[in-house]
Amino acid sequence: MSDSNDYDVLIIGSGGAGLGLALKLADHAISIAVLSKFALTAGSTYYAQGGISAVFDAEDSIESHIEDTLDAGAGLCNPDIVRLTVTHGKSSIDWLQQQGVAFTEEITTTGEKVLHLNQEGGHSHRRIVHTADATGKAVSMSLIERAREHANIQLLENHNVVELVTVDDGLAGKKMAGAYVLDSQQQRVKAMTARVVVLATGGASKVYLYSTNPQSATGDGIALAWRAGCRVSNMEFMQFHPTCLFHPNAKSFLISEAVRGEGGKLVLPDGTPFIQRFDARAELAPRDIVARAIDHEMKKRGIDCVYLDISHQPAPFILEHFPTIYKKCLKYGIDITKQAIPVVPSAHYTCGGVLTDSYARTDIANLYAIGEVASTGLHGANRMASNSLLECLVFADRASTDILQRLPGIAKPPAIPEWDESQVTDSNDEVVVAHNWDELRRFMWDYVGIVRSDKRLHRALSRVELLKSEIAEYYGNFRVTSDLLELRNLVIVAELIIRCALLRKESRGLHYTVDYPDLDVSKPPQNTVLTPKL
Ligand code: FAD
Ligand code: SIN
Repeated sequence: MSDSNDYDVLIIGSGGAGLGLALKLADHAISIAVLSKFALTAGSTYYAQGGISAVFDAEDSIESHIEDTLDAGAGLCNPDIVRLTVTHGKSSIDWLQQQGVAFTEEITTTGEKVLHLNQEGGHSHRRIVHTADATGKAVSMSLIERAREHANIQLLENHNVVELVTVDDGLAGKKMAGAYVLDSQQQRVKAMTARVVVLATGGASKVYLYSTNPQSATGDGIALAWRAGCRVSNMEFMQFHPTCLFHPNAKSFLISEAVRGEGGKLVLPDGTPFIQRFDARAELAPRDIVARAIDHEMKKRGIDCVYLDISHQPAPFILEHFPTIYKKCLKYGIDITKQAIPVVPSAHYTCGGVLTDSYARTDIANLYAIGEVASTGLHGANRMASNSLLECLVFADRASTDILQRLPGIAKPPAIPEWDESQVTDSNDEVVVAHNWDELRRFMWDYVGIVRSDKRLHRALSRVELLKSEIAEYYGNFRVTSDLLELRNLVIVAELIIRCALLRKESRGLHYTVDYPDLDVSKPPQNTVLTPKL
């Protein structure tokens, strides 16, 4: 165990990706730190509902899972990465079971106990392994419990990474040396050194006013990597989940796609079904199509929400499959066994991110990115439901293989200078941070949301420029706080989304613009890649 802020491997993030990697490394003589900027359960992993995609059904096949993923990704998935990920579905589930995750099972007609499989949008078969409707909680709690059993894993809550630190490696370019980290409880910035640093910081959906994501999803890893010099890719493909609970007191509560998988119907306020008009797959069309259809109906009719109705299913069935959703809705006076659920689309998943190779390596030596922060090529222009937790596990495994192989050849980095606070004071104007947070998320929702136009994107970009300079001035003058660090990262993420969106002169997958409403078939599909100017 390291007691000096000096580690072999520094993992930033304690979700499925970060803890998955820590556990894969734990049996080796390596000192590991896992940081979370809040509690260990702060990431999206804990809130995942539907499950994890993997081929178990006898009627299903790896080829079919690959085909569905490529289809949802609208021409931009990397087929090699899709195959690599999908073929590790079963082994990833086996590994989670070995860590103690109890998935929902059922007894077949022949008396055999098997995993129960959910159905979700875009999947042509039942292939979602789950723990009722709280899969993420089951995964998180088991991984945390296992990680606590390893003396060489140090779990550090309330540790918010401020900046990555690199050193010059001559002709080879830069390499990682560690990070500056705000210990929010002690209110001081520590310098942590590490031979290898891994970003497992999750997504950036909090850049939008309405999101299914927890507070932690502010795209920190993407902004940290960008400032350090890494390329990012496909940031225009922000995924909006079609069904987030619409209630004035319920913030960010998802109604799982599995509800539609078990027969839930989308209807207008007067009970009329509408989704068949947009796609023959109806409720089980990929998310981009369903979210856009709901957005279209809401804007056309001036309605606040649409409804998702599962009340035709027997009450015991609903209670068995969706206990979390049932309880949460009941808390807000909605009995889903009798009533339809008011729902709206909300920002849900960041398909793009830090560009990595098939071992999760980024552009900077000894810096890796895994999980939602990364752009591996799996999701293309639209992630298929329940492929994300799978990606977290598969790329945690890939990164561990590479790290274990390379670590003996990576020297201990030089000591990092102490954080310099001599030029800053405590803020006397916190309202600026709160106001800018709100302004940023609101114009991203209004101008860079489900339906875009060049005019709106330019309008958003000019506001981003203004906010960036205000935030930089604030950062230069005042001591850092968690809110300020997140805002500083969010504004970069917003800029990257807008710049990627402006480069795409077509509508594809999750990116829809009224100025170019069709696919550009004049050239092969291209990923958007941005390179930082340092
Ligand atoms: P996260 O689980 O988000 O963890 C991020 C970690 O990074 C946290 O510990 C956080 O504290 C830490 N962190 C962030 N920034 C910093 C910083 N600056 N310093 C220190 N620490 C930092 N996907 C599926 O495949 N199936 C599902 O059923 C499913 N359901 C979902 C339901 C909901 C409500 C949501 C929000 C998402 C769902 N997803 C689902 C998506 C999936 O949960 C996420 O993509 C995945 O869990 C991301 O895991 P991760 O490990 O990359 O990041
Ligand atoms: C859900 O349960 O609808 C979320 C699944 C996902 O985001 O993959």
